[in-house]
Amino acid sequence: MAQQLAEVGYLADESAALVSYLATRLGKPVLVEGPAGVGKTELAKALARASGRELIRLQCYEGLDEAKALYEWNYRKQLLAIQADAATGESPVAEPTRAGVGSIAEIFAEEFLLTRPLLAAIASPDPVVLLIDEIDKTDQEFEAMLLEVLSDFQVSIPELGVIEAVTHPLVLLTSNNSRELTEALKRRCLYLWLDYPDAAREIEIIRLHAPEAEQALVERLVELISAVRELDLKKPPSIAESIDWARALVLIGADQIDDEVFRETISVIVKHRTDLDLVAERIGLGKLGKAGP
Ligand SMILES: Nc1ncnc2c1ncn2[C@@H]1O[C@H](COP(=O)(O)OP(=O)(O)OP(=O)(O)O)[C@@H](O)[C@H]1O
Ligand SMILES: [Mg+2]
Repeated sequence: MAQQLAEVGYLADESAALVSYLATRLGKPVLVEGPAGVGKTELAKALARASGRELIRLQCYEGLDEAKALYEWNYRKQLLAIQADAATGESPVAEPTRAGVGSIAEIFAEEFLLTRPLLAAIASPDPVVLLIDEIDKTDQEFEAMLLEVLSDFQVSIPELGVIEAVTHPLVLLTSNNSRELTEALKRRCLYLWLDYPDAAREIEIIRLHAPEAEQALVERLVELISAVRELDLKKPPSIAESIDWARALVLIGADQIDDEVFRETISVIVKHRTDLDLVAERIGLGKLGKAGP
């Protein structure tokens, strides 16, 4: 599995590779937790690439409801259909007493349905990877609805009936821990904790994304990044920041990280005023020394 993921540009550690393998074989959803920017979203994308499946993504946010996650009726289109029918005198609903309920049902047909990510993943004829990103941003009510969909792999639409999955999606849920998820959801899922990678893996990841950066430079960069992560920062630099830093260093033509370079580029990896102060005080800006002659 690690090999397959590496082929599509994702360098998984042992636990990520194992959980991914188990998820595909057991057909269970995976709950991926960990700090920001450690590759949670990217893992789902990589699994889709590796398996040749389409990726369907549901980006969660506060207030996300069924209408945006599952399906909703296209009222505009329904209204237009009613008006068009009324104009030609064949309206199914303009004279409901004669036309009856059967005709009203015409505007609750599939062509008037707006399919949202969850339903799309369930209804897809080919198996997909379903990424439910940042589930912790939604509320418990939404989680309960999700649980139902994930355990039955079916969606019940009162006006249409039950839509059952023909194929099962591979489901990944990610969370940044902004709230504790319910036990019921955790029970349903395999669990993967993604953390900052060790130095060797981080070097590999950076070199993959910023191949122009020299090995020695990247090694030094990772050393500094992990020292910065040791500090008690509001927002420690993630892999995304490491990659950005390597690219920035290449762009400004730096082949070493001395005081001046560090000071000039620190804002690429540290993005809070108080964090900047802490880094300046504890790590450097005066302690790294000058570049060679
Ligand atoms: N193991 C890895 N192999 C290759 N690239 C990686 C790996 N881990 C992270 N990356 C890269 O790091 C960056 C950040 O990853 P990603 O966006 O998936 O993080 P995230 O955990 O979803 O963050 P957030 O919590 O902020 O959404 C991406 O550019 C991704 O390509
Ligand atoms: Mg993400």
